Amino acid sequence: MASNGKLPSIRTVVPGPKSIEIFDQEQRHIAPGRQRISLLAGVAFDHGEGASLTDADGNTYIDFFAGVAVASLGHAHPRMASALAKQAARLTVGTFATRERAEAFKLLSDAAPGKLKRSHLYSGGAEAVEAALRLARSYTKKHEVVAFWGGFHGKTMGVLGLVGDESKQGYGPLPGGRYQVPYADCYRCPFKLEHPSCGLACVDFARQQIKNSSAGEVAAILVEPMQGTAGNVIPPDDWLPAIASLAKDLGALLIADEMITGFGRTGKMWGVEHSGVAPDAITIGKGMGSGFPVSGVLLSEEIGKAEPFGKPSASSSSYGGNPLAAVAVSETLKTIRDEHLVENSRKVGAVILSRLRRLQEKYEFIGDVRGKGLLIGIELVRDLKTKELLGKKVTEHIFKEALKRGLVTMSYFPRIRINPPLVITEAQAEAGVAILDEVFAEVRDHVDWRAA
Ligand SMILES: Cc1ncc(COP(=O)(O)O)c(C=O)c1O
Repeated sequence: MASNGKLPSIRTVVPGPKSIEIFDQEQRHIAPGRQRISLLAGVAFDHGEGASLTDADGNTYIDFFAGVAVASLGHAHPRMASALAKQAARLTVGTFATRERAEAFKLLSDAAPGKLKRSHLYSGGAEAVEAALRLARSYTKKHEVVAFWGGFHGKTMGVLGLVGDESKQGYGPLPGGRYQVPYADCYRCPFKLEHPSCGLACVDFARQQIKNSSAGEVAAILVEPMQGTAGNVIPPDDWLPAIASLAKDLGALLIADEMITGFGRTGKMWGVEHSGVAPDAITIGKGMGSGFPVSGVLLSEEIGKAEPFGKPSASSSSYGGNPLAAVAVSETLKTIRDEHLVENSRKVGAVILSRLRRLQEKYEFIGDVRGKGLLIGIELVRDLKTKELLGKKVTEHIFKEALKRGLVTMSYFPRIRINPPLVITEAQAEAGVAILDEVFAEVRDHVDWRAA
C-alpha cells in the first residue's frame, strides 16, 4: 500500500503561525463563499501522504475528509505523481485521440457495471450531471426530471433545481419540470415509519407525487445510491430497485449519480452493486481522478447514440478527457485494482463503523451511526426521541477540537460525514476514532450541548 500510515503529530497551537500567515494572505484576495471547512480550520496545508495531511507548521493530521471523498488514492500517491509528471512533460491538451485516452476509456469500460461500456469525460461533477440530463432528453424526447430530498448534484443552473435542500433559495427562477420526492433516509422518515414494515411507503408516495405534479414528460430519475452531502445516508437495499421500477414505469432513464459512491468508496466498486440495480447511466467524478479534476458519464452503446447528444461535438468539452485527466483516471483504476483498495474500503470501513457503534453506546447525543465501506455517517442530536439536531455552536466546537488533536473531519455539521482516502490504514482509522472519542467526552463533560 502506498500510504505509510502516518499518525497524528501536533507540534504547535492549531492553526500555527505559518498557517495563520498564509490563511490571512489568502483572505485578503479570495472572494467569500469558499468551503466552510477551510474557513473554520484556518489551517494552510503544505503536503499530504496517504491518508495524512501536514500543515505549513509541520503538524500532521489524519484525513477523514479526502477533499470530500476526492482523494481516493490518498495524497501524493507516488504512482499518480510520477504518471502525471511524465504526461505533463509530453502532452497536456486534449481533443485528439491519444494512447492515454484510449487506455482510460478501456479501463473505464472494464470497470463499468452492466451495459454501461461507453463513456464521456468532463472536468467537473455538475457538468457531468448536466450531460447525463441532456442524454436523457435526447433519448426519451422528454424533459422533466425527478430528484430527491437531501440530494446534491452540483451548483450549475441545470442541476440547482435538483438539489434537495434550501441552498438553492435566492437563485430563482429555477428551470421548470423538476420534482423532489423523499429519499429513503430511514432515520428521519418523513412518514414516521420503520423499514421494512413501512412497505417502502416513500416509493408509493413518490409515485403519486409524480403523477399529480408532472406533465407526464419525465425523462430521468436522478438518484445518489447513497446520499453524500445529506450526511452519508444509506438507504435500505430494496429501495433503489423500487425506484428503478418506478423509472421504468415512467419511461424515464434511471441515472445513478455515483460521484461520491463510485470507485470503491462504499466497499464495492459501485454504490448500485449493493442493491443489484442496473441504471441506464452513471455519473462519475471525485474519486475517479484522485484529485485531478475529471468527471464523466457511463452509458450504454444504445443510449449513447441518441441525438442530438451523440452528434459530433455535441457532448464534448475543452478539458474532458485531456491527456492529464486520462492518465489520472487510468492510474486511479489500476491502483485501486493493484492495491486492493475496494477490499481495504470494506475492511477499514467495518472497523470504523464498529468503533463508532461503541461510541454510540457511550454518548447520549449520538443518534445514529451508519455506513458502507468508507462512506460513514454519524447523527448528533439533542434528544434521542425528537432527533432534533445538535446546534452549530457545538458541532463547530467538535470540528475545532478534533483538528487541534490531529483529525480533519466533516463534523462541523450535526450529520457528520466520514469519507477518508481508500488507502487509510486500520491504525490511522483507529487513531481518528480515538480522537473523536476524546472530543465527544470533552463535549459531554464540559459543554452544555443540549442548549448550545
Ligand atoms: C453526488 C454528487 N453529484 C455531483 C456533485 C457535483 O460535483 P462538482 O462539485 O465536481 O461539480 C457532487 C459534489 O459534491 C456530489 O456529491
